Amino acid sequence: MKFKDNRYSKMLYRRCGKSGIQLPVISLGLWHNFGDVDDEKIYRKTLHTAFDNGIIHFDLANNYGTPPGSAECNFGKVLHKDFRHYRDEMIISSKAGYYMWPGPFGDWGSKKYLVSSLDQSLGRMKLDYVDVFYHHRPDPNTPLEETMATLDLIVRQGKALYVGISNYPPQEAAIAINMLKALGTPCFIHQPRYSMFDRWVEGGLLDLLGKEGIGSVAFSPLAQGLLTDKYLKGIPKNSRASKKHGFLKKEAITPEKVEQVKKLNKLAAARNQSLAQMALAWVLKDVRITSVLVGASSPEQLLDAIKSIDNLHFEQQELMAIEEILIQGE
Ligand SMILES: NC(=O)c1ccc[n+]([C@@H]2O[C@H](COP(=O)([O-])OP(=O)(O)OC[C@H]3O[C@@H](n4cnc5c(N)ncnc54)[C@H](OP(=O)(O)O)[C@@H]3O)[C@@H](O)[C@H]2O)c1
Repeated sequence: MKFKDNRYSKMLYRRCGKSGIQLPVISLGLWHNFGDVDDEKIYRKTLHTAFDNGIIHFDLANNYGTPPGSAECNFGKVLHKDFRHYRDEMIISSKAGYYMWPGPFGDWGSKKYLVSSLDQSLGRMKLDYVDVFYHHRPDPNTPLEETMATLDLIVRQGKALYVGISNYPPQEAAIAINMLKALGTPCFIHQPRYSMFDRWVEGGLLDLLGKEGIGSVAFSPLAQGLLTDKYLKGIPKNSRASKKHGFLKKEAITPEKVEQVKKLNKLAAARNQSLAQMALAWVLKDVRITSVLVGASSPEQLLDAIKSIDNLHFEQQELMAIEEILIQGE
């Protein structure tokens, strides 16, 4: 498979904290749309479209896809078929932290779970190493020392080049960051949820990451599709909210939310952007955000997302208008 020679010319790259790595501002997440229940032709083309447009960062986890694990298997298949000569151009991440297999060692943050899970992920993707391995969520019962020492071990074993944490609130993140620093394997990245509809990171996490020089990649920046024009006229067939295995529940699409989305959609149109583009640009306006992690159920959606980088600038007036709409929903 041959990809476009000019594939790096269209994308913007931001340095991930103080590390040596630059990530594309748009990254592709494989949580939904890449499982055994999904259409191989479409997801294969989505992966080609990503790479052809400079999106070289692919985010996975042990439990992604329906059934869990199938996204890694399917990604591995496409990788070995179409991207065989391009591994060194790619950042591939995986995670462990949620339920994966029965018994006390198939979930959370023990050394036993993390080591076995990463071995399974590498087996599913048929890789020797991932570029980034994350602890997916804090574990209230395993000592943080054990979880962080395992991340350090995994890097020393060569199974991951960098490590990160996801969904860690600021206080726990600060402790984890210090532990990793002391172990000699600095925390590379934090992966929090962040969108116009979920702004918890503004309450201290981004300040911490900025101060420590740690990158961040924002997940669900489109609130799983809510921050697009998709649900303006009901719930379309084939949308995430219409699927049994979709994580976005119909109940989340309330008339109040749709009203807010309609107003945001108008503002986006005034900027000559789709709502998806404006929502991504809004997250990326903070340079402490290294990248936004979008999900895409088609190559067209990804192309739409990429166009957001044509206008990442917001006038003060536009920001105030967005703020007013968002406050109405609180
Ligand atoms: N660390 C964590 O705990 C965690 C948790 C969740 C996600 N993540 C990561 O973040 C990634 C992205 O999450 P997400 O899928 O929730 O992100 P998202 O970008 O907020 O939502 C993706 C969905 O939005 C819709 N969409 C995307 N582009 C569109 C466009 N241009 N026009 C209309 N609709 C569009 C599609 O919905 P339809 O399918 O309905 O077409 C798509 O499946 C995941 O794949 C995963 O890698 C991490």
